[in-house]
Amino acid sequence: MYTNMLSMLLRSFSLLIIGCLTLSYAWAESSSDKLLQEPIRPLEALVVNAEKAALGDLLFHEERLSVDNSISCAHCHILAEGGADGLPVSVGVNGVKGGMNSPTVFNAALNIAQFWDGRAKTLEDQIDGPLHASAEMASSWPDVIKKLSADQVYNSAFKKLYKGEISERTIKHAIAEFERSLITVDSRFDQYLRGDESAINDEEKKGYSLFKEFGCVACHQGENVGGNLFQTLGIMDDYFATYEEIKKHDYGRFNVTGDIMDKHKFKVPSLRLVTLTAPYFHDAKITKLEDAVRTMGKYQLGMIISDADIASIIAFLKTLPGKHPSLDKVQ
Ligand code: HEC
Ligand code: HEC
Repeated sequence: MYTNMLSMLLRSFSLLIIGCLTLSYAWAESSSDKLLQEPIRPLEALVVNAEKAALGDLLFHEERLSVDNSISCAHCHILAEGGADGLPVSVGVNGVKGGMNSPTVFNAALNIAQFWDGRAKTLEDQIDGPLHASAEMASSWPDVIKKLSADQVYNSAFKKLYKGEISERTIKHAIAEFERSLITVDSRFDQYLRGDESAINDEEKKGYSLFKEFGCVACHQGENVGGNLFQTLGIMDDYFATYEEIKKHDYGRFNVTGDIMDKHKFKVPSLRLVTLTAPYFHDAKITKLEDAVRTMGKYQLGMIISDADIASIIAFLKTLPGKHPSLDKVQ
């Protein structure tokens, strides 16, 4: 009798424990499930070597990287303003204009590849582009290494962090390490994704629903709300039909692969800081965000988006910029 009662008690006690465990498991599962079901994920800072990133910060602002010591990376990627330059096309040494709109360097570390056509696989590889381009820094590695090696500050920094090696490899590594530190974490939208329902208002929630419902998320998705796919510009209609002249850079990814299927394909840009980085598109043809969203509806989704829905989508986009010490402008 006594043993019977004891075993009953034990049984109900263990049932209780199993019950509690199941409940807490179910709770944990439902909150992470909710997050997992979302096509956009919160941004997470990357692990970087802080000292190498600080050296990279110095190099990112170093004008001696250009042929006439006049232009640094920051000249076209103004960090405080969102990491782009706000110009239709960037202007390099001697006022020479390039052909394309400068994308932001914030969160670029998360892109599948660098440049609008993805021709550089890594941040390190990307640096060869601006350093050599005649419309950017028009410089060369031997020249840069000579200039930096003559500077005491760089000598001691490279001595401490790279055993004294001031080379193409170490300069690229330090700059890329700095770029890996440029993740804009803890946006209002990420707070919402992490469970704070009040972090964004009803209009912003409506914009997010439309962004999913219309199919924008099919291309702009993941942590970076873009940056992880190449897609054709003009899926539903010929975007370039109105162009008087189609330039080489308008062929996009085709220039890299030579595959006709890649004609007019571009890396889907991240929309994380899009409200800070007008003008828009690879060639800055579009000045206003409203028009960028309208154009996406027409050419990527084959639909006309109403002005009210455009306003809601933009309200949602304004919740995406996160925080970083170098970024002043936050919505
Ligand atoms: C004269 C202006 C200019 C300078 C100087 C410049 N950039 Fe850029 N940057 C651009 C433009 C324009 C693009 C886009 C070009 C393209 O896609 O073909 C770009 C693209 C990039 C990208 C790719 C981002 C993405 O989403 O694809 C990164 C990263 C970047 N630059 C970092 C740097 C670094 C680091 C330096 C200094 C070594 C630098 N830039 C110097 C104008 C500039
Ligand atoms: C089929 C893929 C696809 C879909 C769907 C799509 N986009 Fe895009 N989006 C792109 C590509 C590719 C670009 C780059 C075009 C270019 O630069 O020439 C782009 C560019 C943009 C830009 C400009 C970004 C910049 O920095 O210049 C915005 C804003 C944008 N999209 C928002 C949206 C919205 C809002 C929707 C839904 C209404 C949407 N997109 C649907 C692929 C897509």
